[in-house]
Amino acid sequence: MSIIVERYKDKVSTLPTNDENQNLCMYEGFWHVHGFYINSKADFCVEVIMALQDDFQAQPTDVFLTSHPKTGTTWLKALSFAILNRSKFKLDLGSLPHHPLLTISPHDCVPFMETEAFLNNPSYANGLMATHIPYTSLPKSIISSDCRIVYVCRNPKDVLTSYWHFFRKLNTPIKLDDGFELFSRGMNHYGSFWDHVIGYYKASLEHPDKVLFLKYEDLKKDPESEVKKLAKFVGNPFTEEEKYDGSVQKIIKLCGFENLCEANKGGEQTSKVLSDDIYFRKGVVGDSVNYLTTEMIQTLDKITKEKCDGLDFSFGA
Ligand code: A3P
Repeated sequence: MSIIVERYKDKVSTLPTNDENQNLCMYEGFWHVHGFYINSKADFCVEVIMALQDDFQAQPTDVFLTSHPKTGTTWLKALSFAILNRSKFKLDLGSLPHHPLLTISPHDCVPFMETEAFLNNPSYANGLMATHIPYTSLPKSIISSDCRIVYVCRNPKDVLTSYWHFFRKLNTPIKLDDGFELFSRGMNHYGSFWDHVIGYYKASLEHPDKVLFLKYEDLKKDPESEVKKLAKFVGNPFTEEEKYDGSVQKIIKLCGFENLCEANKGGEQTSKVLSDDIYFRKGVVGDSVNYLTTEMIQTLDKITKEKCDGLDFSFGA
């Protein structure tokens, strides 16, 4: 048994569970998977979150890429990696074939914190790492240190649609009706999508120098200004020269859906649990209209309205 699962066995046993989905337990206001989720490791389980809360020490220079699943995590990882490493991995055409993003997955370039591999050796992230942990459950040192947090959100209808396809690709298909039902009630991995978004949104208002809040739809609509904003925020702004030599456009192209999708096709599934191409499907805004019923759309819109009541916030469309 994983040492981490064993270490937090007693604490987890006291958490509320749910009859409908025995794999979920409620921790700090969000539903999480517990025990072994994949590969007999505690990866992405609540035990890893607890271990990070107890042990992880953020550095002031660290950058944390945060998101709810299926909101553009892979894209944000690629963009941030390309931006922060552009002096090391050149973007010129001649050297581009050697860029790591063309041979290895963005998920290998930027590790998720909530894996046992990361916990055992956090330094291999080189200061750039990702997490789906809700804002309120982040390790305290992330909140208190001078590090940066970037959050990406996406409209809930496309998130549900992406989720549903993802589970089909994982060979754990779920009926869309059932997926919709659970998603609307926040009974999915990492809990209520809306609460997750609002937690980071409020943090970005309270600490604008620390938390940058991005929207998938804005990245699609105006990638140039979003990428410049991201580069500036993570402390690596584009120079005047770079603004004219096409560096911004080169990064956008390198990390574009077509490019990454092609680079990750049939990705090697060596020691990994998931093959890399599972993270690429269509990469468009509004695909939910092709799958969700009018009633589902109305319900999701209603939840959004209720959850965002009193907030100056709207999802991208
Ligand atoms: P769709 O299923 O709607 O196509 P995550 O990375 O958080 O798991 O989110 C996955 C979603 O982001 C998928 O959405 C995927 O296709 C899309 N995606 C992945 N890479 C992308 C990129 N480079 N540009 C735009 N969308 C991308």
